[in-house]
Amino acid sequence: MCGIVGYIGFRDAYPIVIKGLHRLEYRGYDSAGIALANHSLKLFKKAGKVSDLEAHVEGEDLSGSAGMGHTRWATHGAPSDRNSHPHTSGDSKLTIIHNGIIENYATLKEALLSKGHTFKSDTDTEVLIHLIEEIQDVTQLGLREAVRLALNRVVGAYAIVIMSADEPDELIAARKGSPMVIGVGKGEYFIASDATPIVEYTKNVIYLNDNEIAYVRRDDLLIKHIDNTIQTPYIQELELKLEMLEKGGYDHFMLKEIYEQPRSIRDCLRGRIDPEQGIVTLGGIKEYIEKLKNIDRIIIVACGTSWHAGLVGEYLIEEYARVSVEVEYASEFRYRNPIISSKDLVIAISQSGETADTMAAIELAKEKGATIFGICNVVGASIPRITHAGVYTHAGPEIGVASTKAFTAQVTVLTLIAFYIAQQRGTITQSKFVEYLTELDEIPALVEQTLKCNDVVKAIAERFKDSANCLFLGRGSSFPVALEGALKLKEISYIHAEGYPAAEMKHGPIALIDADMPVVFIATKNSSYEKVISNIQEVKARGGHVIAIVSEGDTDVKEMADYTIEIPLTGETFVPLLATIPLQLLSYHIAVMRGCNVDQPRNLAKSVTVE
Ligand code: F6R
Repeated sequence: MCGIVGYIGFRDAYPIVIKGLHRLEYRGYDSAGIALANHSLKLFKKAGKVSDLEAHVEGEDLSGSAGMGHTRWATHGAPSDRNSHPHTSGDSKLTIIHNGIIENYATLKEALLSKGHTFKSDTDTEVLIHLIEEIQDVTQLGLREAVRLALNRVVGAYAIVIMSADEPDELIAARKGSPMVIGVGKGEYFIASDATPIVEYTKNVIYLNDNEIAYVRRDDLLIKHIDNTIQTPYIQELELKLEMLEKGGYDHFMLKEIYEQPRSIRDCLRGRIDPEQGIVTLGGIKEYIEKLKNIDRIIIVACGTSWHAGLVGEYLIEEYARVSVEVEYASEFRYRNPIISSKDLVIAISQSGETADTMAAIELAKEKGATIFGICNVVGASIPRITHAGVYTHAGPEIGVASTKAFTAQVTVLTLIAFYIAQQRGTITQSKFVEYLTELDEIPALVEQTLKCNDVVKAIAERFKDSANCLFLGRGSSFPVALEGALKLKEISYIHAEGYPAAEMKHGPIALIDADMPVVFIATKNSSYEKVISNIQEVKARGGHVIAIVSEGDTDVKEMADYTIEIPLTGETFVPLLATIPLQLLSYHIAVMRGCNVDQPRNLAKSVTVE
């Protein structure tokens, strides 16, 4: 959601903070601000992009070797200069940046108003800094203790950094339910909501745990639990590489990430399959082999694109492991009273590992005794820390807000999990395992081949870039691919798009078909091929324009579709991994042609840490 960066050390803070904000901008991009300490506190904030903030501070004195910055995705209060972070206390001596939501802010604000506090913004964050000021005034305690007492009164999620004009040599950082990393340098410390702003300065990091407060000085770090007990920090080495965070010659991160998929899927498979022996190894869940042998039901919880991956997983797990699977929107699941028991396995899927709804669904399932596996991309994020076991996707950092390589990596992991469970339960013969894993091993090369459709897709994008609507249709495991194609198109090009199971069209959506309606079919050669051909004919008969993703060498669909995009022949199981690629490219090109901000689409943020 929002991004936080802080620095204290021997260098000028401003260049580090502003560069960090650029790196974090994918997390939220409706306003940005910084605070710098050099004898006194200096604050600059602006609605708009980080580049607008840079323009705003030109010519200002930006010296100071302690500072912090924030890039915002609005929750409480519209995007505006006054609602941008940092926020200050009434006497302007304290300043705060914050990710997350203070749920009881209204009650706290009322109490503070009655004590004479006045507020300059509509945010929940400003309430917290006033609360700290109030506690200091009433108790005459130091800032450290006032922060701790205030956080004890907060309901909700937060990652915060606080600076004080009276103590400019210290940053106070704290987290609960929102990520926070501290980079450990020599005579300097870095603070950020993820490791991306830190990696070019140090590889040594500490992930703050929930309910921890860090008191950070240039040559000293003290971490305490919110109950005041001292914690021993665990320093770990980052695997992240700087080049992973650069566009590497591509116009957009999204395009780079689409083209990274042969590599990301290969990384995801590395060390996990032995095609010759027909064996899948998943170290992260191996302690649960006995459970998997006897499991009756799996519930997959996720949001957005990750939910679509979950739907593909449902097909795979039911087909190969013969276990019943339910796929739930985490945001709905958490507010029901779902029937879950200790016999169930819940698989939570999340690229960011921070999605608030998915985290809440995990907590609920945990309370009811279920075993929870996570499928996450960001190593060390919150979800891998609250699940019992899991499998990382190893897709590398995904910066484009629209998820691409994370989706194919999630589907790859779900394929591995389906095979792994099948292996434990003996639902597939060994010779079939060898066959499937051999095919799976070839997928990265086939994805590479699939990417060659780019020019064909670009020409189709040119033809349909001005469409107002678009339908995506598929059957079986290509149905979630259709949903994903529609989501990609709407989120980055703002064209209204819907995904449907192709057979459902006649139950309603067919009424939409006319000469202005492009309909994208996933019509590869597999068990529902003939049925999909009938659906294509239904669209053609009503004047719709058909764009079909077909298997290499197809002739039948080519005769009836207006446009076809060929993908390599592969087993039905693996079609989603290939068919998704042209749909990603289609959305990308259409969005670029419409002049949209592909990497940072309006109103969206990369990790959705609010419900
Ligand atoms: C769409 C997209 C979102 C995310 C969703 C869940 O391109 O990226 O729909 O998939 O917000 O996010 P994660 O996977 O981080 O839990």
